[in-house]
Amino acid sequence: MASPASEMEFRLAQRRILLIVGGGIAAYKCLELVRLLKKHGVAVRPVLTRAGAEFVTPLSLAALSEDKVYQDLFSLTDEQEMGHIELSRSADLVVVAPATADLIGKAASGLANDLASTILMATDKPVLVAPAMNVRMWLHPATARNVAQLQADGVSFVGPDEGEMACGEFGPGRMAEPAAFLKAILERLGEAQVIEAQTGPARPRGPGPLTGKRALVTAGPTFEPADPVRGLTNRSSGKQGYAVAAGLAELGCEVILVSGPTALPTPEGVTRVDVETALQMEAACREALPVNAAVCVAAVADWRPEVIANHKIKKTGQGGVMRLVENPDILEGLAKAKENRPRLVIGFAAETDDVEANARAKLKKKGCDLIVANDVSSGVFGEEDNTVVLVGRGGVEQWETVSKAEIGRRLAAKIAEALA
Ligand SMILES: Cc1cc2nc3c(=O)[nH]c(=O)nc-3n(C[C@H](O)[C@H](O)[C@H](O)COP(=O)(O)O)c2cc1C
Repeated sequence: MASPASEMEFRLAQRRILLIVGGGIAAYKCLELVRLLKKHGVAVRPVLTRAGAEFVTPLSLAALSEDKVYQDLFSLTDEQEMGHIELSRSADLVVVAPATADLIGKAASGLANDLASTILMATDKPVLVAPAMNVRMWLHPATARNVAQLQADGVSFVGPDEGEMACGEFGPGRMAEPAAFLKAILERLGEAQVIEAQTGPARPRGPGPLTGKRALVTAGPTFEPADPVRGLTNRSSGKQGYAVAAGLAELGCEVILVSGPTALPTPEGVTRVDVETALQMEAACREALPVNAAVCVAAVADWRPEVIANHKIKKTGQGGVMRLVENPDILEGLAKAKENRPRLVIGFAAETDDVEANARAKLKKKGCDLIVANDVSSGVFGEEDNTVVLVGRGGVEQWETVSKAEIGRRLAAKIAEALA
């Protein structure tokens, strides 16, 4: 009888990906993705856009995929070998990576003026898109509209990640890293167990030490609008807050995740409430009460513009002054609540110096039970790892650098202990 591992390998060997490579700097990451997919036995057939060929060569793609690279809609040879409609249906999954603003826009508008966009229109197979572009392009309202349209059309997304970009700017827009990308592809193919087989079994779901308990977690940045297109925000990616929510859910907790704008998927078993501003976040938190524990990880903007202009504020050539008002302190509000004060209120603090001393001061001022402080002077935002120090009334605990996911799990275990 075949072992489960060889059965899995056999199933993967039957899987086929049609990989559309667009014209972005991140196209080089596709070469590693192709290598990883092939290593897992998955067949990859590449389609390269004209702009894509400026970034990676057809030769590299052909060599790694061990298949022909399709580039031209009007190629007589290709059309005789495999017509574009047949090509669009020759795989179990169509993957677009990097998905340029252009390809996303074309697919959302139903345009089909080259091989890649025609395939996206003609396919009857699931589509997974990995956006990669400059942060301004990603945050542009047109891209947001196009992404929302594609999501409504049933297209799945992986990434983009937040971090430093090839152009030197910082923010969301980096293509998902090949390992995370591979995971998303295997999940979309219904083969998530392959990853589990490599990384160990999934953590237990359902009954756990926090079953019957309810927790509120805040995550991500807030966005405080100044006019219809601009606003104040910060560099929080939301990763740490989402990891805490996931850690709690893994222990059986009912979790309400109140999230500012992020590009992250909702962790399994978590109820997510999306908000934009600090005032909305405060209201959503109030609404989530009563809870046994509240963990405030969100980087809530301290201030918001006093006036939100109805129209885009125009340049006058003379600079300008924007009056700001202070936002409510959500952590302090929860910790000092007269009614429905959660039994455990935990706050995260991002510090750039005197981490421990500032955390102690924050613990006292806010009236919470624990402060998880991290030193953000060396760039924690958007990273996978974090180094934290826990400052409570009983003492201080320094944790070594571990992944944000691991911090989420360890903190959830601590919460389970405290609530037992
Ligand atoms: C150096 C360079 C880098 C680029 N990087 C990106 C990118 O990362 N994302 C993107 O959406 N467009 C990027 N562009 C613009 C696209 O290449 C351009 O929109 C092109 O028409 C996309 O074609 P395609 O969608 O058919 O691949 C870049 C252009 C240049 C010159």
